[in-house]
Amino acid sequence: MNTPAPSDGVVEAREAVELDPSRPPLLTVKDLRMHFPIHSSGVIRRTIGHVKAVDGVSFELRAGNSLGLVGESGCGKSTTGRLITRLYEPTTGSIDFDGTDLAPLTKKQLTPFRRDVQMIFQDPYSSLNPRHTVGAIVGTPLEVHNMVPKDKVLSRVQELLEIVGLNPEHYNRYPNEFSGGQRQRIGIARALAMQPKLMVADEPVSALDVSIQAQVINLLQDLQKEFDIAFLFIAHDLAIVRHFCPEIAVMYLGKIVEIGDRDSIYNSSHHPYTQALLSAAPDLRQASTGRRVERIRLEGDVPSPINPPSGCHFRTRCPIAKDICSKVEPPLLQIGERHKVACHFAGETGNVPETPVTSRLLGVDEFGAPDPGASPAEVPGDGPGYADTWLDLKNNSLGRA
Ligand SMILES: Nc1ncnc2c1ncn2[C@@H]1O[C@H](COP(=O)(O)OP(=O)(O)OP(=O)(O)O)[C@@H](O)[C@H]1O
Ligand code: SF4
Ligand SMILES: [Mg+2]
Repeated sequence: MNTPAPSDGVVEAREAVELDPSRPPLLTVKDLRMHFPIHSSGVIRRTIGHVKAVDGVSFELRAGNSLGLVGESGCGKSTTGRLITRLYEPTTGSIDFDGTDLAPLTKKQLTPFRRDVQMIFQDPYSSLNPRHTVGAIVGTPLEVHNMVPKDKVLSRVQELLEIVGLNPEHYNRYPNEFSGGQRQRIGIARALAMQPKLMVADEPVSALDVSIQAQVINLLQDLQKEFDIAFLFIAHDLAIVRHFCPEIAVMYLGKIVEIGDRDSIYNSSHHPYTQALLSAAPDLRQASTGRRVERIRLEGDVPSPINPPSGCHFRTRCPIAKDICSKVEPPLLQIGERHKVACHFAGETGNVPETPVTSRLLGVDEFGAPDPGASPAEVPGDGPGYADTWLDLKNNSLGRA
């Protein structure tokens, strides 16, 4: 394997990782919800509401592939990651991992899966115990899970440190003796020790210096290839996941609002929120399309997930919202071979349809009122993964691969 340099320095990102759709699904998440209860104060603590951190998320991740999960702060990315690693117990929904639904499993039943699904955390400072040596941090899970015989733990730790580009002789050093990028490598070595099939990387480079981010992403890319690991890569902005993730899901207030392959998201996004995120990183869009990008300014903050807006959650900040948006929730509708969007007025920037693209499917009129003349139809691409047919928005007909 191409081991990266042990010292931190500026490294260019590599060629983009491509999707391999021929691989079987490893993770299928269906209608996942996490509603954290809010309790009243006082002696008798009653449930007085819920924080709808994740509110009906579905997607599929194929073995050895990577999916980027992007959105502003508070939209539910980390909660989704923690549900998949079963650090949280979901309110409802299923998490099919390699043929087993992890959602209803007890702590004990989850034990055999703990190894297969590993998490890398954002903060390389707080995620490592400062009182433990690197040898203990990486070696303890090896012992706990009986990964290698006791007398082979040290040599395996050294091997892992070498794989992640650290000096194997530094196993007896403490986390504070390493730089941020190196500490993140220790976290990666700890996760890698379990030989996982899936890694949930929650903003693994956000806390790092920009010059080091590409190095760590390149390392993850190497590890993915070498050990055939699938990644759910969580990030704030679309720039970071572009190279590593051939498929991207954009989240807003607990829901996926757009999901698709790299080309669909970066060159042909159809959701105003994705378009706003892209316009915040103009180089990204301009470089891929050659077109000048109008800056779309997102007004205000993400509303509270305790009481999200009715209809479309994005409507309070959407520059093109109309009547129907406050009344009817837009479904995540498949509009291309590998592209889904949840917007009544889905269209590329500057090419917004005049009437809702969803109304016929949902059996409502253009204002969102039930239309007695229309009969609701099945929403193409409903659920995780992609269907063979979809709604072709250009000619309002069914498209097919
Ligand atoms: N344990 C919890 N109890 C109650 N509410 C929570 C809990 N964890 C998260 N939340 C709330 O759920 C929402 C989603 O949080 P989450 O951490 O998943 O967002 P995020 O997209 O990862 O944000 P960031 O980009 O800031 O990391 C937020 O409103 C948050 O306050
Ligand atoms: S459904 Fe309406 S409010 Fe929501 S993103 Fe589309 S246009 Fe905006
Ligand atoms: Mg987070």
